[in-house]
This record gives sequence, structure tokens and C-alpha cells, in this order.
Amino acid sequence: KEIKIFSPATVANVACGFDVLGFCLATIGDEMIIRQTDKKGIKIVKIEGYDLPFEVEKNVAGVSALAMYNDLKPDCGFEIEIYKKIKPGSGIGSSSASAAGSVFGMNSLLGNPLNKTQLTNYAMKGEALASQSEHADNLAPAIFGGFTLVKSTHPLQIIELPTPSGLYVTLIHPQIEIKTSESRAILPKDIPLKNAITQWANVGSLVHGLHTSNYDLIKDSLNDVVIEPHRKQLIPHFDNIKSHAMEAGALGCAISGSGPSIFVLSKGEVVAKTVEQALRNVYSETGVAFETYVSEIN
Ligand code: HSE
Repeated sequence: KEIKIFSPATVANVACGFDVLGFCLATIGDEMIIRQTDKKGIKIVKIEGYDLPFEVEKNVAGVSALAMYNDLKPDCGFEIEIYKKIKPGSGIGSSSASAAGSVFGMNSLLGNPLNKTQLTNYAMKGEALASQSEHADNLAPAIFGGFTLVKSTHPLQIIELPTPSGLYVTLIHPQIEIKTSESRAILPKDIPLKNAITQWANVGSLVHGLHTSNYDLIKDSLNDVVIEPHRKQLIPHFDNIKSHAMEAGALGCAISGSGPSIFVLSKGEVVAKTVEQALRNVYSETGVAFETYVSEIN
């Protein structure tokens, strides 16, 4: 018995919601095949696309699968095939897609004994291997879809948020790699109270904006005064990209997860495509290699 799954890319943080908010990019993602075997244990039998370790304990998909397998102790084993499309270190949840895919596939083959929150919990073990931190803001939207808010990680509590219709994302991916662990290491441990107040006001109003499809409020809330000032130095021409995106009519522009990808939210496809062209123009002039992508969020 086997199952072929699509494991989506995701945008974490969504400007103001570091480690808490995320949304799913339903049309970019990895493919995986999970196969139930008589022979017990977890085995990674195929990896295509990128050079990643086959050892189960060193592979994020393997680590999350093993954590779930050791708890459930099923009377079978599993083989994992990974067709990696999301470039590791691109900032759109590459490790989360792998970590989520293996547990999601195994759960389906076993008749869905676990709910989505339990799956996210196991997937966090794999994510921790990649980023040295157990956060779930990429995993939750990969497993639940749409927008999600991680209310807490211990115990894991995930809240599904609504997506206003006609909300589009434009993504630009400069072809450099940033390791999440390194991009976390440069962050200060403490933040000034005044910035904290601005940030939690933005998170609250963004969530309200999503619930009420209030695009003006969404636009007002998509600001990050805590993380972006530290991380933007890792991303080529970030300020320039952001000002061009906003001039082109975007609702907001911020670093996707730990970067280097940058995401822009827009109301409607026309604006999202205008933004895409504006971003392409910025990078074309600088000589940075890049890819762009536009999609409705749903
Ligand atoms: N919230 C995480 C971070 C997402 O920004 O470090 C990246 O995995």
C-alpha cells in the first residue's frame, strides 16, 4: 500500500507574527510517496531534486516519521520517497514540507489515527533538526492549509484563520541560501517594550482584518518592527524591493520566514502581477539571480 502526496510550501511569520503566523502556498510544493512495508522500521529509499541525507536520523522527513513511528509502534514499516521541489534554505518552508509530508502520509496509510495537531507535533521534531528550534509556523499551514496561528507550542495549540477572497501573494526568491538556524542566531534575545506593543497590536489587527476581510486593516498591520530590522541585512536589496512593491499598490511586503524569499500580499491578481513586474525590474537591474511566483491564497 502506498500514497502519493503533495506537501506545500508555506510563508511563515507574515510580517508581524514571528513564529506564530503562517500561510500555505497551495501550488508550490514537494511530492512524496509513502509506502507501507511488512519489514518494520523507517527507510528513505529515494531523494530527487536536492542533495539531502538518506540516513533517517539526519533527514527532517525521517526524524518526524521516526518520532511518530516510535510512539504508535505499528505492525509494519514505511519507505519514503522524496521528490524535492522546494529549494532548502529558500525561506518558504522547505524543511517543513518534508517533515509534514512523511507524517501526513503515514497517518493516511494507518487510517488516520492522529489529528492534524498531533501530526504537527511530530513534524516539529523534524523541523527542529533543520532549524535547531521547535517552531510550528510553517508546519501548521502545511498541514492545515490557509492561514494559521500557533497559539502555543507546548502544548501545541493551532488556530485556523480565514482567508479573505481575492488575497494574492507575490513571491521573489533571490537565489542565495540562508540557513534558518543562522538567521535566528542574529536575533536579539530581548526587545524594547515599545516595539513589542507595536508588534502585538499588529498581530491582533491582522487577525481581525483576516476575519472581517478588511483590506485597509490588513495593509495597516503588515509591519514588522521586531525581526525585519535585523534580518533584512541578509537579503539583497530588501528595502528597494519593499518600496517598489508598496509603490505598485501592495498591501504589505516582508521577509518570508527566515528568508531570503520576500513575500508581498496584494488585493486582486492585477495588483499582484504589477508587483511581480516591479520586483523583477529591481533585481534585473542589480544582477541578482531570482525566481518569482504569483498565486491566490486559498
Ligand atoms: N519563524 C521561523 C523563523 C520560520 O522566522 O525563524 C522559519 O522556519
